Amino acid sequence: MTTASEPLLSVRGLRVVLGGRHILHGVDLDVAPAGVTALLGRNGAGKTTTVRGVLGLVPRTGSVRFAGTETVRLATHDLVRRGIGYAPEDRGVFAGLTVAENLRLAERPGAGTPDYPLVHELFPELKARARQSAGTLSGGQQQMVAIARTLLNGNRLIIADEPTKGLAPRVVTEVALVLERAARAVPVLLVEQNLALVRRLADSCVVLADGRTAHRGPAADLLADTGATRRLLGVGSNSPAHEEADA
Ligand SMILES: Nc1ncnc2c1ncn2[C@@H]1O[C@H](COP(=O)(O)OP(=O)(O)OP(=O)(O)O)[C@@H](O)[C@H]1O
Ligand SMILES: [Mg+2]
Repeated sequence: MTTASEPLLSVRGLRVVLGGRHILHGVDLDVAPAGVTALLGRNGAGKTTTVRGVLGLVPRTGSVRFAGTETVRLATHDLVRRGIGYAPEDRGVFAGLTVAENLRLAERPGAGTPDYPLVHELFPELKARARQSAGTLSGGQQQMVAIARTLLNGNRLIIADEPTKGLAPRVVTEVALVLERAARAVPVLLVEQNLALVRRLADSCVVLADGRTAHRGPAADLLADTGATRRLLGVGSNSPAHEEADA
């Protein structure tokens, strides 16, 4: 069992080797039991591999404690059963199916009654668009479906991998609202490159560089430090991308 002060997810010395290449050489990160924790880093830093390592989708070593239990030797299905919901980088929404069908496919046997009341309370738009084919939704609405799927099964942690990637600034603002609403219900580990969104949503952050943890701390402290954001992320904290979600 976790206590209030203990991280919900605690990763130490995570290493991943893929195709003979060392991709992660020691990632440390903690996810708080409430709110949003941001996972940052330049392209190719190892963010997605870290998430896949946590979920057991790639072979990994090190320590991954979730809700007080060491899970590094557990299979993905076991981690999912323990309550980790995943919205992958490409959203994984079935374009040819309706919103309702996409959600129905995400219902997990054994997870109890799917929590449609929570999903409909957080995202009334999805109830209204239940019969619309997901391929005709806006990028922001598709992201809503991806996040809603992770909320159906009573998950204890949601991991969202770059939910705003490739979206127009207006839609980024829409997705920020989606994540804000979701994080009120369940803690979120948010992989994100949009610093304006991180500023708006995240309490703490972890920055990866070349497959290692390069920085951990309060998100506000990192974002206030232009030198650090430039060194770690290659952007100044006053860059246009930084202001997008406030528009
Ligand atoms: N299956 C694989 N085989 C070999 N190399 C891989 C594999 N998957 C990822 N990599 C490499 O590992 C490094 C980290 O990739 P990863 O996708 O984790 O980065 P990322 O931080 O998520 O980047 P982005 O911001 O572009 O999504 C990259 O150099 C990538 O090319
Ligand atoms: Mg990635």
